[in-house]
Amino acid sequence: MLNRTVPQSCRLPIAIPASARIESLITQHGGFLRGPLSKVSALYPGSFDPPTNGHLDLIERGAKIFEELVVGILRNSEKSPMFSLAERLEMLKALTAHLKNVRIEAFHGLMVEYAKSINATCVLRGIRAVSDYEYELQMALMNRKLEPTLETVFMMPADKYSYVSSRLVREVAQIGGPVKGLVPEVVEQKLREKLEPAYKFHDEMQAATARSSSGKEKKKRKKKV
Ligand code: PNS
Repeated sequence: MLNRTVPQSCRLPIAIPASARIESLITQHGGFLRGPLSKVSALYPGSFDPPTNGHLDLIERGAKIFEELVVGILRNSEKSPMFSLAERLEMLKALTAHLKNVRIEAFHGLMVEYAKSINATCVLRGIRAVSDYEYELQMALMNRKLEPTLETVFMMPADKYSYVSSRLVREVAQIGGPVKGLVPEVVEQKLREKLEPAYKFHDEMQAATARSSSGKEKKKRKKKV
């Protein structure tokens, strides 16, 4: 039998539990895992048309780990956004007023150039489900190609918001459907104001359906008696 000795450099650290390795990394680098993040200024770019509870959840999570978080609203993200830039700025400012290290701004052009102009070294993006991953990966890699020093960090919003998107909120609201719990109250109110005819029509239809089914119930009960 060959008596081969594995060189020290090739030995796998299988005997060391993962937790111990992470701990040693932290001690070696004097708080490596927490330290630098607290000095990072990050940019959370998006269309926010409209801001959802999922966006807010991510902003709150980001505000906890980054020294400063700039929420960058893309100007003209679509040809005809439902909310104007001024409305989105106003809503997001009101929603994040309690977060002292969060700033709301608008940007146009390349996101990486805007990030550089505000000295952000990190881009925060949310991933809700596997379906987001492909698009986000492509965007992160393109942004890395454009600006290799800018890192993209992904965070997950609370699972109760994993299906919430601005697009679906717009779709439901445009038919006058309920968006309670999906968007902050201030956004819900704005949607109701903006889409008043749709909500009025939907509420009237609901009321008519309720009236007709209660009428049928009464008839049924009469027949039984
Ligand atoms: O909320 P969204 O619509 O998913 O956000 C997309 C956004 C605004 C982050 C993205 O479209 C963007 O960064 N646009 C700015 C133009 C740009 O830099 N494009 C290259 C991205 S790879």
